[in-house]
Formats: sequence, C-alpha cells, structure tokens
Amino acid sequence: MDAEVRFWPSGKSVRVRRGTTVLDAARRAGVTIATRCGGKAACFMCKVTVRPGSELLPIGDEERRKLAGLEEQHIRLSCQTRVSGKAEVELPPDPLRSAVAKALARQKEQEELW
Ligand code: FES
Repeated sequence: MDAEVRFWPSGKSVRVRRGTTVLDAARRAGVTIATRCGGKAACFMCKVTVRPGSELLPIGDEERRKLAGLEEQHIRLSCQTRVSGKAEVELPPDPLRSAVAKALARQKEQEELW
C-alpha cells in the first residue's frame, strides 16, 4: 500500500496500491461512484474532480480523448485515473439529492408567497 485516496464530501480515505484506479479505491472505501459501463471508459458517468496536487499516474490516451479538455479543469474519469501517492477526489453531488433539494426549495418559496 503506497497510495492514499481521500474522497469528498465524505472525507473517507483508503490506502491502496500504487496504480489502483480511483474507482477501485472508492469501492474499497465504501464510496459509491455511478457507472454504467463497468469501468471501460464508455459511459462517462464516473467523472470526478481531482484536487490539484494529487499524485496520479499520467493520463492515458483513451481517457484524454474522452475528456476532450475537461482534464484541464481537473475532471477525470475515475475508472481510468490511477493514483501514485496521495490524492484528494471530489464526487459530484448525488443527482437525486440535488433534485429533492431543488424541489424543497421551490416548495418553500411558494409557501412564503402565500
Ligand atoms: S465507469 Fe464508465 S466511463 Fe468510467
């Protein structure tokens, strides 16, 4: 074990072998990252934001082609991104929770109008 990945917003972390994908590290940490293609760089659902300074192996051609420049904003495919040391990874907000939060906010606004 020579790498450590911390996931946000939970703050959970896990120690893994160098070269482990962020997706596999998340599974080991008990953190859920949505996927549909099973880690084949096909579904684009496993996007995460990797904080600057994270220690990663160089990006592969397939991932770079899929991301089409998003990697410059620190967005990566967790199934293709391999860690080489300490890494900090931010997960996107859960879409269902976001939808519920927006609906509740709308409801509250309407109640205040009455
Ligand atoms: S799991 Fe489908 S692109 Fe990463």
